[in-house]
Amino acid sequence: MGRVAIVTGGTRGIGEAISLALRDRGCTVVANYGGNDEKARIFTEATGIAAIKWDVGDHQACLDGCAAVADQFGPVDIVINNAGITRDGVLAKMSFDDWNEVMRINLGGCFNMAKATFGGMRNRGWGRIVNIGSVNGQAGQYGQVNYAAAKSGIHGFTKALAQEGAKFGVTVNAIAPGYVDTDMVAAVPAPVLEKIVAKIPVGRLGHAYEIARAVAFLCSENASFMTGSTLSVNGGQHMY
Ligand SMILES: NC(=O)c1ccc[n+]([C@@H]2O[C@H](COP(=O)([O-])OP(=O)(O)OC[C@H]3O[C@@H](n4cnc5c(N)ncnc54)[C@H](OP(=O)(O)O)[C@@H]3O)[C@@H](O)[C@H]2O)c1
Repeated sequence: MGRVAIVTGGTRGIGEAISLALRDRGCTVVANYGGNDEKARIFTEATGIAAIKWDVGDHQACLDGCAAVADQFGPVDIVINNAGITRDGVLAKMSFDDWNEVMRINLGGCFNMAKATFGGMRNRGWGRIVNIGSVNGQAGQYGQVNYAAAKSGIHGFTKALAQEGAKFGVTVNAIAPGYVDTDMVAAVPAPVLEKIVAKIPVGRLGHAYEIARAVAFLCSENASFMTGSTLSVNGGQHMY
């Protein structure tokens, strides 16, 4: 493809698999990350993919980070808004900080990254934005009002921005992954996870590369007539 792509949270988990999938399809990939310098160093050493730290919840940091990527690698054609966190708890125990951090990073990050890159994509007549939502943004989940609201917001954000990009060759789509075997899911207590897996028709967690393949498809020319869509990649857990 020869395109310049930024993958937020691109140094581990689902993001790492997305970085590799886009690199393997010919993109120049830059992986953003939030704080885990050691993992980012190992990732770059192993893959040769540049990793740059900034907080996607920080508006100015996204403007500066994307400008630095464009200076070094060329105009940004593809953005994968993958960075995300959980701060789970039932409403009674959820602090305002838990609410705000999840909204700021998961949903605010999409806005900040789009503000930094969408105008350039429109001007050049080609672009791809893929936002990583969640099955829990479609179906809801006990103990996740913050996360489910942010992810549900991502699906609305996607449909609205898709309408602004459609006439300019810029597609905006979302993927709603089910449960995938990453650090985020490793944090779920084992008995809870067992119950979740029991409800997944294919009978297992997903693999990060299974999400990455769907992202790569949405970034390819094969998906040129798809915009504003949400692909559910969840092993049949929620048929939406
Ligand atoms: N795993 C699942 O089952 C699942 C299911 C549905 C949706 N998702 C979504 O898929 C995405 C990736 O999930 P994952 O399981 O791969 O997560 P993960 O293993 O916890 O990795 C999260 C990534 O996001 C980065 N990140 C966190 N906060 C950031 C910030 N403020 N600025 C920049 N980067 C930040 C992290 O950077 P550091 O390495 O520096 O911490 C890390 O690279 C998330 O949006 C998640 O909500 C995951």
